[in-house]
Amino acid sequence: MKKILVTGGLGYIGSHTVVELQNSGFEVVIIDNLSNTTIEVLDNITSITGIKPQFEQIDLKNKEDVQLFFKKYTVDGVIHFAASKAVGESVELPLFYYENNISTLTYVLKEMIANNVYNFIFSSSCTVYGQADELPITENAPTKPAKSPYAATKKMGELIIEDTTKATELKSIALRYFNPIGAHKTAKIGELPIGVPQNLIPYVVQTAAGIRECLSIFGDDYPTPDGTAIRDYIHVVDLAKAHIAALNRLIHNQNKANCEFFNIGTGTGISVLEVVKAFEKVTEKKVNFKVVDRRAGDITAAYADTTLANKELGWKTEFTLEDALRSSWKWQESL
Ligand code: UD1
Repeated sequence: MKKILVTGGLGYIGSHTVVELQNSGFEVVIIDNLSNTTIEVLDNITSITGIKPQFEQIDLKNKEDVQLFFKKYTVDGVIHFAASKAVGESVELPLFYYENNISTLTYVLKEMIANNVYNFIFSSSCTVYGQADELPITENAPTKPAKSPYAATKKMGELIIEDTTKATELKSIALRYFNPIGAHKTAKIGELPIGVPQNLIPYVVQTAAGIRECLSIFGDDYPTPDGTAIRDYIHVVDLAKAHIAALNRLIHNQNKANCEFFNIGTGTGISVLEVVKAFEKVTEKKVNFKVVDRRAGDITAAYADTTLANKELGWKTEFTLEDALRSSWKWQESL
């Protein structure tokens, strides 16, 4: 049985990936510092899969703890989620973001190589493309200057990994996520609401639940059919499964280069208004909204060309937007 370290394994995408890893026969050890989640997620994972993952509460900023971890555990690969992801916060706290997302990455990579662990999956983001010139976005689209320290950490992270794969035996796949949404069908894990949601779906869900009065739609003057911005919303379980496919590719030496990049989305662009309408339809709940100014730093449209991921990873999405929105609502109700 292969053992995989999942950093940030109690977070939103991490926890769903741990479940899929266990369902696929992997043994999992999680590192999490609980900065944006709670320890109960560990029990909830266990109750879904019937297997309790090993867990170490470690903050990856503590280099010595990372060293000790790799002395204590022998792992076959690492899926690295642990990072901060709030765009606005990153503008306020750039040094925190560079330390929390970049220093930690270097510590993990360094200890992997020192301990002959060479399979690495990285959480990247479609944010590296900025506003792409052509849609859908292929992996060959040029990356654009980062608009926030958060985005910069994803671009730099990819670069650090690529350089390391050139100089060592490290093999890596960076998955460039589009917009992950939804929750596990059991409603035992999902995105934990901490503070006022910055992302669209949690805000929509909380508005429908009466926790927020009114959703602000950031701009209806974009050059899109209904004027609202377009994104590619992917069910988090589909996204989680892409990690298993990527990991298997590395473990079975099926990778075609030592550093590969894949877009992970559905391939379909959906507008903010379409999201709201679809949510209202599947849940029969009303979402109050008003249109306000555009949000600084937002782009007009982004959706993935998933041809490469479909072909090379042998992966495709199974869930629809409606499935994802229904699961988000079920998760909200369970809270
Ligand atoms: C953002 C980041 C992205 C990051 C992701 C995860 C930017 C430009 N992108 O994605 O890099 O990986 O979060 O945290 O910041 N919207 C509203 N009202 C709301 C919230 C959002 O209208 O209350 C709109 C946004 O303007 C956007 C769409 O909904 O058009 C999706 O927004 P969001 O869920 O925040 O994701 P992104 O901005 O695409």
